Amino acid sequence: MEREIRILADAPTIAKRAAQEFVEAARAAVCQRNVFQVVLAGGSTPRALYDLLASDPALRSQVPWDKTQVFFGDERHVGPDHADSNFRMATETMLSKVPLKADQVTRIKGEYRDAEQAANEYEEVLLSRFKLKAGELPRFDLLFVGMGNEGHTLSLFPGTRALHAYGRIAVHNWVGKLFAERITLTAPAACAAAEIVFMVTGADKALALKGVLEGPYEPEQLPAQLLRPKDGKLLWLVDTAAGSMLSKGIRE
Ligand code: 6PG
Repeated sequence: MEREIRILADAPTIAKRAAQEFVEAARAAVCQRNVFQVVLAGGSTPRALYDLLASDPALRSQVPWDKTQVFFGDERHVGPDHADSNFRMATETMLSKVPLKADQVTRIKGEYRDAEQAANEYEEVLLSRFKLKAGELPRFDLLFVGMGNEGHTLSLFPGTRALHAYGRIAVHNWVGKLFAERITLTAPAACAAAEIVFMVTGADKALALKGVLEGPYEPEQLPAQLLRPKDGKLLWLVDTAAGSMLSKGIRE
């Protein structure tokens, strides 16, 4: 695994760099396989990236949207119109503004009363979309993720069951501190990706980020440490505030 840590000025700079990564990965994937399969991150940090891809003519025109398939890394246990929905956030910022047909976007059905059913159904869709046998993992071309200020990523929170979900692609995960169910890709599914890009901003994440990148391997405490592509590229895009405690990394 090739790991790159880039410490950039601010969130807009991270969005620009992440958008370049999106365009390059999309063009390479389409050139090789005539399809680009990308996983979008939830939360708030990726909004700037999605806005940029939808609104910057130079970037937008370079994306082979007609050959792009969009998936989600995780979802809250809410419907697609709920304010907390990652699907709603991505739709408002990008998916509703770029030339994607509905069947090019695969969302996690957080509206199901039973989060396990939502996870199982998402897993079934991925198995069929990637033409996999049970137990095999999808190889996403590009997977965007964020990190919480306590080191969670996707909906893999410290001390939660999903950290140990092997042999699965997607699972539901009870997160006690949120008193909420989540649906998430598992770490093995994420690690099968050709490229994982973390986008992390804000001083409140600096200590957890130092722990993840420079501390001992303790994924129970810092689940972001689980995301290391088995055969691919790992790119950390962090702003100066989040990266203020790092001794490694390329400061641009
Ligand atoms: C979610 C995300 C989650 C997010 C981090 C960082 O559903 O919230 O999957 O893992 O990436 O919590 O969130 P921010 O980008 O809002 O800081």
